[in-house]
Amino acid sequence: MGPAAKFVTPGVLFILTLVFGFWLSRSGKPYPALIFNIHKLIALAAAVVTAIQTFNALRIGETQPILIGLLIVMGLCVVAPFVTGALMSAKKATGRAMLTIHRIAPLLAVLAALGTLYLLGGRA
Ligand code: HEM
Repeated sequence: MGPAAKFVTPGVLFILTLVFGFWLSRSGKPYPALIFNIHKLIALAAAVVTAIQTFNALRIGETQPILIGLLIVMGLCVVAPFVTGALMSAKKATGRAMLTIHRIAPLLAVLAALGTLYLLGGRA
């Protein structure tokens, strides 16, 4: 299995997370428990599967500093939606900042993942 194929499952889970995320936003507060939990659990599954596949892919070959940098960015951008998501649902954080971070972090995570795949390309 090439490096890209390993990221099909995380990719599908990620897209499902987005779909439920937008659905959740449109439903508004108080968030419907079912959609909220599905969004949260699929997001968790996506993060776990991505981490496993990334570590598997990394075992092959030497690591370059730029790859480590991308992985740190990816890690932070995967943790950020969990923190902001929890804050938004706990009603503590009002205002748009949390939602903005919640939107931008996944985008950056995807960019970092693509960069990682590019660097790993051909050797995993
Ligand atoms: C990889 C992880 C995640 C991704 C990619 C993600 C993505 C999204 C997206 C795209 C939206 C729609 C935002 C919009 O309308 O522009 C959303 C909404 C939301 N997400 Fe997530 N999410 C993730 C994890 C989580 C987690 C773990 C939680 C809860 C602990 C959470 C709670 C929420 C809530 C409460 C909203 C609704 C915000 C609103 O009021 O509009 N998310 N998410």
